[in-house]
Amino acid sequence: MKVETKIIKINPVNPEPQKIAIAAACIKKGDLVAFPTETVYGLGANALDATAVEKIFAAKGRPSDNPLIVHVASIDDVKKIAKNIPESSKLAMSHFWPGPLTIILKKRHLVPSITTAGLDTVAVRIPKNKIALEIIKQAGCPIAAPSANTFSKPSPTLASHVYEDLNSKVNIIVDGGACSIGVESTVIAFLQKTPMVLRPGGVTIEQLEAVFGKVLIHPSVVGVNEKVQIAMSPGMKYKHYSPKAKVVLITGSRDEIQQKLDAFSSENFEQKIGVITSMNQFDIKADSVKFAGQTFAEVAQNIFRLLREMDNELISVIAVTAVDDADMGFAVMNRLKKAASKII
Ligand code: TXA
Ligand code: MG
Repeated sequence: MKVETKIIKINPVNPEPQKIAIAAACIKKGDLVAFPTETVYGLGANALDATAVEKIFAAKGRPSDNPLIVHVASIDDVKKIAKNIPESSKLAMSHFWPGPLTIILKKRHLVPSITTAGLDTVAVRIPKNKIALEIIKQAGCPIAAPSANTFSKPSPTLASHVYEDLNSKVNIIVDGGACSIGVESTVIAFLQKTPMVLRPGGVTIEQLEAVFGKVLIHPSVVGVNEKVQIAMSPGMKYKHYSPKAKVVLITGSRDEIQQKLDAFSSENFEQKIGVITSMNQFDIKADSVKFAGQTFAEVAQNIFRLLREMDNELISVIAVTAVDDADMGFAVMNRLKKAASKII
């Protein structure tokens, strides 16, 4: 179904109440609003309205077995949609909320099964972004919001990315500028004694270990081999984050990466090639070269945008150099491994 997409620019520091009210009214009515969060842009609908949530799946072309994250504005709101909340998860809430952490909890009956893809759990997060929080408060309902990209594309970190993917499929796009973190939230479950990370993201493993001592990491996060995918976080099994261009992830020591980049350039000389690097400077022969950043945080902030820019430049094959698995590098590498059709 085609809709008219309206773009509303909202000040991320002091969101204008009358503009927030327009976005909130759209959610209340059962329509779709894309809005910024501190991680990536989300495609929001009333999480308790099955018909509205259905529109999210249709707009994204998202498989119906992949559950959505429900965004709320307070702990009281969490209690309305989740039950049997474990003590250890409350520790995570007090340390990392509002912020880029999504917690899996037992769901209450009131949450329709389409929102959780039939699971008896619900993924919940209180975002930090002011615009997001104000829209949730004004709408007066929890907001289900996956990343606001077409299924399998890189997640959007600018309103223009949402427009590229969802023009005529979303009623309102709230433009609140660039997302400060740039990769999605960390998804964590407290279903056993030691918490388990189902998706690395904006809260790092190091930050979680500082609070919990030890955390487990689900095999689907570390396993490059798709066979390891046990669908605990169902979304992790799909092809993800991929631009139109083929992505080749280049790993190794600094010298090895330089050699592999040289080989990549000569092997693909007939194609329009792009290279995205970070941290280290390399000698590169390519049609387009982009530098993702000097720190893990900068690389996280930029990586999805740069993949999209390569598509806009009609690059057909992109080499991306690996970063260390530490800090936010872990989440970045997780996304790159999923985006890559080849890892060398
Ligand atoms: O940062 C983010 O998390 C962004 C912003 C908009 O908040 N949202 C986002 O949503 O990344 P999405 O739908 O692209 O990713 C949600 C992830 C998927 O991997 C999904 O399978 C998992 O969370 N998930 C959702 N509900 C779950 C549940 N009940 N149990 C396990 N995993 C769940
Ligand atoms: Mg997503």
